[in-house]
Parts: sequence; C-alpha cells; structure tokens
Amino acid sequence: MDTKCDNVPVIDLGCDDRSHIVQQVALACINYGFFQVINHGVSKEAVERMLQVAHDFFGLPVEEKMKLYSDDPSKTMRLSTSFNVKKEKVHNWRDYLRLHCYPLHKYVPEWPSNPPSFKQIVSDYCVQVRELGYRLQELISESLGLEKDYIKKVLGEQGQHMAVNYYPPCPEPELTYGLPGHTDPNALTILLQDLQVAGLQVLKDGKWLAVNPQPNAFVINIGDQLQALSNGTYKSVWHRAIVNTDKPRMSVASFLCPYDHALISPAKPLTQHGCGAVYRDFTYAEYYSKFWGRNLDQEHCLELFKN
Ligand code: OGA
Ligand code: NI
Repeated sequence: MDTKCDNVPVIDLGCDDRSHIVQQVALACINYGFFQVINHGVSKEAVERMLQVAHDFFGLPVEEKMKLYSDDPSKTMRLSTSFNVKKEKVHNWRDYLRLHCYPLHKYVPEWPSNPPSFKQIVSDYCVQVRELGYRLQELISESLGLEKDYIKKVLGEQGQHMAVNYYPPCPEPELTYGLPGHTDPNALTILLQDLQVAGLQVLKDGKWLAVNPQPNAFVINIGDQLQALSNGTYKSVWHRAIVNTDKPRMSVASFLCPYDHALISPAKPLTQHGCGAVYRDFTYAEYYSKFWGRNLDQEHCLELFKN
C-alpha cells in the first residue's frame, strides 16, 4: 500500500479500479479517519480562485471585516475568532469566516460582497466540492459493505457549511493553537489547506501526526455523524491546527451535514455481528445543539450518545 506510513493515505480517485479505491477508503477510514484525495474532479482553477479570494478577504481593512463579526454560532454568516468565544476559557489564534452554502440561492445574498468576486468564486467552488462529497459518500458506503446510496439516503438533503480559516503568524506559537484538538460534528469534511504552510495534525495511536500539504489534494475526514452511522467502525478522529511565528496560514473547510431532522442511527447490517448498536438514535439537530453548547476540548461529543 502507501509507502509513507508517516502520512495519512493519499487516494487517487482517478484510478480505473473502483474496488481498489473502495478498499483504500476502508483502510484509511479504519486506521486514520483521514485521507487525502487527488484527481478528485474539482478544477484547479476553482481551487486557486478560492484560495486567492480567501486571502483577499482577510486582507481587507479591519473596519470592513468587523461589520461581519459575530460570536453567535446560530448565525448563518459570520466572521469570528478562536472557536466558541462565549464558552471557552482559553482563546485560539484563528479568525474564521463561516458561511452556510446550501441551497446557494438562499444563502449567497448574505455573503460578503467585498471582494466583489467573492460570491461567484465561492459559489462555483461549493458546487464542485459538493459533487466530490457525494462521490466520497458513495465510496464510503460501499467500503462499509452498504448500498452505494445508503449514506446519501440517511443524511437527506444535506446542509453544506464552509469555514474559511485564517491563522495569523503568532509570536509565541508554543503557547496556543490555531484550533485545539477537536472532532468535526458533521458527516464529512473536505479541507483545502494552504500548500506553503503546514499546520494540520491528526491524532494517531496517541501521537500527533502532521498532514503535510500535497499539491492538488483535499484532506478528507470522517465526522461524528459517520462514526455513529458506521456503528463506530469508522472514527471521527481528533485533529488540531498549530500556528507558527513567521507565516500566516489559510485553510478552507467544507462540511457536509445531515439535514436537521435526519435520524442518525447505526446502519442495521453493522449492528448484527456482535456488539449491537453502540449509539442511541438521535437527530442531527439534537446533536448539533449539544456540540455547540460545550467547550471544544472536552470528551468526544458522541460519548454523550452511547447506549
Ligand atoms: C476545521 C479544521 C483544520 C485546519 O475547520 O474543523 O479542523 O487545518 N481545520 O484548518
Ligand atoms: Ni476540524
């Protein structure tokens, strides 16, 4: 398999042998909860323009950006800082723009209109990333031995959120994080990270493993909802972002989420051998409010839903 076992697996989605891809996805999800994908179908132009407009946005004057500031997680468009300002004791070295992105016609009007190209560029990017997300969910379903469209059916009309993360250079990076260790509360995350500046780390066998940026790749991770749906076979793994002294870092996270009333329940075929259902059934709305009501670095939020 992969020769660099010190990095998360890189999976070539352009490979002709689908069963080989499915097998690689299974191994990556079991062993890491993370993988990178190349030949993923999102165009190079869309990615480059997305990163450029993100840089341009964070380069705007503070007064311009502050118009969008809010620390209320229920807002569908906001610029904020750290993680959950009202709940946390220690703040983090991060600014982020958080957007709801589906359906586009509902949310685009409230997006920033400066830079002027922002809405168009980010919309294009979102459409392509969503397609990739669906493809990955099919591969993940198959890799669990489920019907190809199992995950898509359970999650319903999925929400899509974006966090454009900007980590400024930090004078004392050993004292803080860009993002402290956390798991993602959604179903599937598609992360575009800055090619020049590394910072993402994943917990693997009790050690933090750097996910080195790879050209033309996305970093994919299993979120809490897929851990629940897979009855714990696949893990929503702890990860964090570190900062450095001399360079700002940018990342763009796209989160696919179940629709609010989706009933999340361990897939029946996965509960029949041995352990039964590890988690009780819940709706995504219930989960999401629990997640945001707590601090990020507490125990895994899914622990609260164990049978
Ligand atoms: C996130 C996240 C990592 C990064 O936004 O949930 O984990 O490298 N980001 O910015
Ligand atoms: Ni995350």
